[in-house]
Amino acid sequence: MPITLTLPRPDDWHLHLRDGAMLRAVVGDSAARFARAGVMPNLVPPVTTVGKAAAYRERILAALPPGTGFQPLMILYLTEDTPVAEIHRAAETPWVLGVKLYPAGATTHSSAGVRDLDRCQAVLEAMAEHGVPLLVHGEVTDPEVDVFDREAVFIDRTLAPLRQRLPELKIVLEHVTTAEGIAFVRSQEKNTAATITPQHILMNRNALFQGGLRPHHYCLPVLKREHHRRAVLEAAVSGDPRFFLGTDSAPHPRSAKESACGCAGIYSAHAALELYAEAFEDAGALDRLADFAARFGADFYGLPHNTGTVTLVKEPHPIPESIPVGDESIVPLRAGSETSWRLKV
Ligand code: DOR
Ligand code: ZN
Repeated sequence: MPITLTLPRPDDWHLHLRDGAMLRAVVGDSAARFARAGVMPNLVPPVTTVGKAAAYRERILAALPPGTGFQPLMILYLTEDTPVAEIHRAAETPWVLGVKLYPAGATTHSSAGVRDLDRCQAVLEAMAEHGVPLLVHGEVTDPEVDVFDREAVFIDRTLAPLRQRLPELKIVLEHVTTAEGIAFVRSQEKNTAATITPQHILMNRNALFQGGLRPHHYCLPVLKREHHRRAVLEAAVSGDPRFFLGTDSAPHPRSAKESACGCAGIYSAHAALELYAEAFEDAGALDRLADFAARFGADFYGLPHNTGTVTLVKEPHPIPESIPVGDESIVPLRAGSETSWRLKV
């Protein structure tokens, strides 16, 4: 009998589902594993209002395979023009998870993001007052700053001052990738957490150059040195409730990745829980996976734990070379290789 691992049904607190044919191709992978997900708003045009989020939520629900109870929790895209009234609407809408700060130009579809955070002060104050969390893409866009240092510099220049200015604002440092990011979260007394992706605990930056240039390992924040990977893994398995699961699964068509100027984003939803199980098992911490995947995030957001379970089986599971999307395809993480756990269906 193979070893099995049964977990309370987990949540993915950072997910890109896209729209249209791409949405229909990917949403089943998340729904098979997770009860809920925080859905990122970087569509074109971005999901800046509760009204737009309501329409997008309906499209997601319509794209779900029949019989799944998957709940998309919507995230609004912060701009310098977001009115305070939108925060009031967000606070009254139970399926709105929070508001996302993209520094303009930091990543995929972030051009409508924020150039000067001071222009959002009234909105941030309203968020603090009404308990609407701020989800942060924590990288500076200053071209003078080395791409591998952008998270650490963002913490010094933007996040630490913001944290001091608004101690009541709930802040999530999304996809934390550095020892500095981990130390920052740990040093805060309250209202501060971070999500952790599978790629940043399974791979270091060598994975970008393994025998040649590997566009399917390119995401933002970019993979970091080994000592950062270890710091992030150590936080994930530590049992500290401020660190929880957020895949940042970010599908792009193969042609947009295998290009002279390839897009950032790694598709991991097809094997997300299995990949975290590998990392936790390697660290001797499989017993900590349930809290990381199914409890700590809900506790931070003040949401109930899920009912029901998912089971993983310790068996090699092949990952396809690609996943079809209309005339295009997605190259998933581990394409053509395998995971050491599989989802029991
Ligand atoms: O790698 C990434 N891909 N990082 C992001 O911040 C955005 C995401 C995407 O939307 O493709
Ligand atoms: Zn993301």
